[in-house]
Amino acid sequence: MNIDFYERIWMWTAAGIVVLFLAFVGVSTFAEGIHPPSHVETIDPTKIFQDSRFARIGVPTELADGTIEVQMAASMFAFIPNEIRVPPGRRIRFRLTSADVTHGFMIAGTNANTMVVPGYISQFTTTFDTPGDYLLLCHEFCGNGHHAMHGRVIVEAGAAVAKSAAAAHEGAH
Ligand code: CUA
Repeated sequence: MNIDFYERIWMWTAAGIVVLFLAFVGVSTFAEGIHPPSHVETIDPTKIFQDSRFARIGVPTELADGTIEVQMAASMFAFIPNEIRVPPGRRIRFRLTSADVTHGFMIAGTNANTMVVPGYISQFTTTFDTPGDYLLLCHEFCGNGHHAMHGRVIVEAGAAVAKSAAAAHEGAH
């Protein structure tokens, strides 16, 4: 079979691009640990406020490894709580879930951005290097009040952080 010279160039170029993209995906996945901002953890959306995993909604809590966990819920048409204060320069792990429909969770000007799907817990960890007053937005259409669903994330030194029982125990030694 005769393949034209220029055709041959494009074939190899196309194949090379596919290999290059797969290499990018492989490096970002395995070497840099980049992954979608969730993990498969389910929850009964009708019982969020009775669930022990959301017993500390709105109370940033330091875990044994120094990460600060922030639990929040999304519901039509507000975040619970709609204002949270966290310290800069610390690992902040957000744990989010929805009480009703699918919402979005985006902190403007940062890399914090996930969907909040009823029945699942969305989790991601980030660090805010710059203190400030950040706008928290729902960016998934969730109903008539979607445009009004927003809150604030205030990054400030000295933000109150509770200690989990395990972290307090660690600190005692
Ligand atoms: Cu919640 Cu849009």
